[in-house]
Amino acid sequence: MMAHTHETASKGNLVRWSKRYDAIFGHLLSGSEDRVIELAEIKTGATVLDLGCGPGSLTLKAKAHVGKTGKVFGIDAAPEMIELARKKAAEKGVEVGFQVSYAQELPFADATFDVVISRLVFHHLPGDLKRQALNEIQRVLKPGGRCLVVDFDLPSLPVVGGFLKHLLGSHAMPQTDVRNYAVLMKQADYQEVECDSTGRLLLAYAKGIKAQ
Ligand SMILES: C[S@@+](CC[C@H](N)C(=O)[O-])C[C@H]1O[C@@H](n2cnc3c(N)ncnc32)[C@H](O)[C@@H]1O
Repeated sequence: MMAHTHETASKGNLVRWSKRYDAIFGHLLSGSEDRVIELAEIKTGATVLDLGCGPGSLTLKAKAHVGKTGKVFGIDAAPEMIELARKKAAEKGVEVGFQVSYAQELPFADATFDVVISRLVFHHLPGDLKRQALNEIQRVLKPGGRCLVVDFDLPSLPVVGGFLKHLLGSHAMPQTDVRNYAVLMKQADYQEVECDSTGRLLLAYAKGIKAQ
């Protein structure tokens, strides 16, 4: 089983093994990226935040979609992830604002972003942190802005689901439940909340809009 770092029960499960993560999951997850961008409806010129960006693959893909007139930022609580993401952006000659930060304490002004995306992060946020992160996302979104949370949707088959939970980190997986994220979004006053499979890998999503 891959170990995550439990910083404190209240801060989330950070992933500090950035190079290994990128080597293992970078290629695997690349097949879902265009679909995530499509679901988030990221357009040219948009300002986008990738929350819990890890090594920044999806963040860099988002930057390619917004173009020169758009702005993309990525935050992650693990400094090792941000260091690798910055290195990858520099190698590509791409300008993305990567910062070490917690999902529940975002270092951005109110109404900054058109879109916030977050892939495979919410199962790292225990208990009330999911609510806090959704409130923070709502704060930094512009009115009418979109929040897209993508996470594992593991098969209910005991053998397959059990194996994946073991492989991916059994402590965190019970906390992955996009249907519950959709409930939390509604409770946090997001509008037009929807929840479905992404049609890629074992990933599902919950999406909501900040009220105008
Ligand atoms: C499974 S990785 C996903 C990375 C990236 N989003 C992707 O799709 O490849 C989860 C990330 O969430 C980060 N994380 C965990 N708790 C966090 C928190 N409270 N705030 C910000 N990032 C956090 C971890 O450090 C890790 O990089």
